[in-house]
Amino acid sequence: MNLLLYGAPGSGKGTQANMLRSRFGIPHIATGDMLRAELGRQAQPILAKGGYVPDDIMIGMIRQRLRQPDCARGFILDGFPRTIPQAEALDVLMGELGRRFDRVLYLRVETTELLRRLSGRLVCPTCQRTYPPGTERCREDSTTLVQREDDKQEAVQPRIEIYLAKTIPVLDHYRSEDLVSEIDGRGTIDEISDQVLAAIGQNGRVRQ
Ligand code: AP5
Ligand code: MG
Repeated sequence: MNLLLYGAPGSGKGTQANMLRSRFGIPHIATGDMLRAELGRQAQPILAKGGYVPDDIMIGMIRQRLRQPDCARGFILDGFPRTIPQAEALDVLMGELGRRFDRVLYLRVETTELLRRLSGRLVCPTCQRTYPPGTERCREDSTTLVQREDDKQEAVQPRIEIYLAKTIPVLDHYRSEDLVSEIDGRGTIDEISDQVLAAIGQNGRVRQ
């Protein structure tokens, strides 16, 4: 199963990808997590300001990642494509790999809720899992949680603006192929998970 999670910063892509990964045993490929882990300091200034890393770097990264053996049974893509050139490059790559997306899951959340979630979010610096406010340590590896650099107030607004300008058009790209399931992002994490599973034809209540 090949799934694409689409949505604004803070819409819950990482949260739902985690659920899908544990349920289906396919890798969660999150370009933001890869950038924070791999390019390290090189990409740091761009991330910290809430800007986008250039398309050619991102496309190269995904070309390499989707060819890895663990993607053979499918994958959950989160944070890519974010621009039309990235979406076009991904079409070519999927064609080369002989793959199609089963579904594009669009988590639609209003801006005031995005701002609320991002300002309170905590992240595990070891495994990148995200948590709502009030949690102290990662449930997986007990690392003390921290605030993500780009969740500081000055970076959040630019992230949302660039999403509206560059990433919203990507949705039409997939709508024209009739692949998009729009999910109302209001509600608890479990309620959203139920909607996500229903959209891919896998009903059944889940708990995280
Ligand atoms: P990336 O890491 O992808 O960040 P993002 O798109 O801004 O999305 P987030 O990870 O902030 O949010 P999310 O949707 O995963 O929400 P989460 O599940 O954590 O990218 C970071 C940066 O990398 C970019 O700004 C850019 O610089 C660069 N980059 C990455 N990809 C790129 C590309 N392709 N091209 C160019 N540059 C690229 O949830 C958020 C919070 O809400 C959490 O605390 C969570 O616990 C909570 N929450 C989740 N669901 C609910 C709910 N239903 N109710 C209440 N709280 C909830
Ligand atoms: Mg994320």
